[in-house]
Amino acid sequence: MSNVLLNVENLNTYYGKSHILQGISFSLSDNDCMAILGRNGAGKTTTLRSLVNLSKPDSGNVIFMDENLKNIKPYYIAEKGMTLVPENRGMFPSLTVEESLSIISQYNSNNLWTLPKIFELFPSLKHRLKNKSNEFSGGEQQMLAISRALLTNPKLLLLDEPTQGLAPNIVNELFKALSSLLKSGLSIIIVEQNIKMALNLANKVSVIGKGKTKWTGSKSKFQNNTGVQKEWLGI
Ligand SMILES: Nc1ncnc2c1ncn2[C@@H]1O[C@H](COP(=O)(O)OP(=O)(O)O)[C@@H](O)[C@H]1O
Ligand SMILES: [Mg+2]
Repeated sequence: MSNVLLNVENLNTYYGKSHILQGISFSLSDNDCMAILGRNGAGKTTTLRSLVNLSKPDSGNVIFMDENLKNIKPYYIAEKGMTLVPENRGMFPSLTVEESLSIISQYNSNNLWTLPKIFELFPSLKHRLKNKSNEFSGGEQQMLAISRALLTNPKLLLLDEPTQGLAPNIVNELFKALSSLLKSGLSIIIVEQNIKMALNLANKVSVIGKGKTKWTGSKSKFQNNTGVQKEWLGI
């Protein structure tokens, strides 16, 4: 039996008066990769933000490694091991690769991830050490954003549309890196429009529609459930 890593119970999140999340629930075990799928505007980004209190849920619980995260700030949640790589990739445009990564690694005494390990995962970053991230391609920015997240030594990575706008060969490189992270024991939640790529990585799927969890189950059950695919994803 695998251990429960994350339990998400009936999250409700508002933006101002708009009731955006109206019941998001799912759970994740150690080393799971869950694909969160849903149409544009369904609430996927808000779900990831709510897990780490960047958007604070009004009600519901996020239990990560047996701890309720209700009043814990995003920075401390990252320290506990759940780290979001946001859609906009959270870059510091004026910093070089070396600067961006060393800012984080100097605060990280218990280093599982080191710069040499990062460059093994993303060889193309090594050649860009002195380049500023505003000179980067979308793929390089995504790799840098994931590298920065890894330097916080996460147990669970939350990825919001990592392949958005990337050329197919870069998507492939990213896919290989994420597969190797999963092999090394990490857990991942990936929000993707690239359903094929997400399903290649994932063992679980959760479908969000209109702010609610509409369906959750194994990848194979999802692939056999054409009804859910059609109703909530239009595929
Ligand atoms: N900052 C915000 N203020 C108000 N409404 C927002 C904000 N961000 C997103 N929304 C709305 O919340 C809903 C869910 O958005 P989002 O979580 O970004 O969806 P997804 O990531 O699935 O495309 C959408 O209707 C969107 O318009
Ligand atoms: Mg989104």
